[in-house]
Amino acid sequence: MKSEEIRLEDLHAGKFIEQKVDEISAAIGTGLAMNALSGGVDSSTVTMLGYRALGERLKTYFVESGLMRHDEPKKVVSLFEGLGVPVEIIDAQEQFFEALKGLTDPEEKREAITQTFYSVVFGQLVRGSGAKYLLQGTNYTDVEETVAGIKRQHNILEQLGIDTEERYGYTVIEPLIQLRKPAIREVARALGLPEEIYRRPPFPGPALAARVIGEVTPQRVEVVRRATRIVEEELCDTGAFQYLAILHGDRVTGIREGRRDYGFQIEVRCWDSKDAITGSPTRLSYDVLDKLADRITTGVPGVVSVTYNITHKPPSTIEPI
Ligand code: XMP
Repeated sequence: MKSEEIRLEDLHAGKFIEQKVDEISAAIGTGLAMNALSGGVDSSTVTMLGYRALGERLKTYFVESGLMRHDEPKKVVSLFEGLGVPVEIIDAQEQFFEALKGLTDPEEKREAITQTFYSVVFGQLVRGSGAKYLLQGTNYTDVEETVAGIKRQHNILEQLGIDTEERYGYTVIEPLIQLRKPAIREVARALGLPEEIYRRPPFPGPALAARVIGEVTPQRVEVVRRATRIVEEELCDTGAFQYLAILHGDRVTGIREGRRDYGFQIEVRCWDSKDAITGSPTRLSYDVLDKLADRITTGVPGVVSVTYNITHKPPSTIEPI
C-alpha cells in the first residue's frame, strides 16, 4: 500500500474508503485476516474498512491487556456488536503484566508491550485461526515520530526493518498509513461510525502503561485508571485535544486525618493541539483544577498530591512514556 501523506484538504473520504476496501480485498484474496480493535478512532476505522472488505473473514479481537480504561472492553465490544461487527475479547492480562515485571525504562516497557502484543498474543491467534494477515491502524504521525527516534510507537514494525512474516508468521496491512488523525476522523465519520468514536480523543497503544512512570503493576495501573476516569469526566467538555492522568514513580509526604501519609502523586495534562505534533497546555480555569484535585485525592485511594503540567510540546511529549 502507498505511504505518502494524504492531507486533510486533499482527502475525498468516499473515494478513499472505496479504494482501501478494494486494496484489502485484493491483498487478502480468499483468506482470513485478523485485526485488533481498541475502540480508538484508528483501530475502529480499520475494523470497519476490513469488515466491509472481508465480512466474516475478518476476525476482530479486543485484547484485554489489563492496561485499558474503566469498563473499556465491555463498552467497545457492545458498541461494535451494535454495528453488526462481532468482536472476541482475548484475556492476556497475565502475559502483559509478566512481560512488564521489573521494567522501569520507558522504551523497554514499550518494547515489552510490542513483543507481547505481536509475538505472544497475535502469534498464538495466528496459529489458532489460520489467518495470515493482521490489519492495523498505524497512522502517518506514528511513523514520523518513531522514525525520528522520539518514541518507539507500539505499532511500528516494518518501518523499523522488522519482517513481520518472518518474525511473527503474518503480514501487517496498514490502510491508514497515509493519514493523520483529523483525516482519519473524516473517514470514520464517512464509514458511519458514531460521534463518540470519530470524535474520541487519542489514546496510546500501550494504553495506561504509557501513563505509569516506573514499574507497571496491576495495582499501579488501577491507581491511574481511577484517576483517568475522573479526569475524563471533568475535562470531556473542554474541547481539548487530549487529557490524561499520570502516576508518578516517587511518593511524597502528605497528611490524612492528622497523620503522615506517604502517598502517590498524580499529574494531570490537558492539551490543545491539532495533530499531536505540537501542543500547548489548555488554560483550564482554577475552579476546574481545584475540582480535579479534590476529586482525585478523595476518589483515588493513596493519592496525596495532584499537579497540572504547564509545559508545551516540544520539549514535552503528550504522553510521559
Ligand atoms: P507523544 O507522547 O509522542 O504522543 O507526544 C503523540 C500522540 O500519539 C499518541 N501515542 C501513541 N499512539 N501508539 C499509538 O497508537 C503509541 O505507542 C503511542 N504513544 C503515544 C499520544 O497519545 C498522542 O496522541
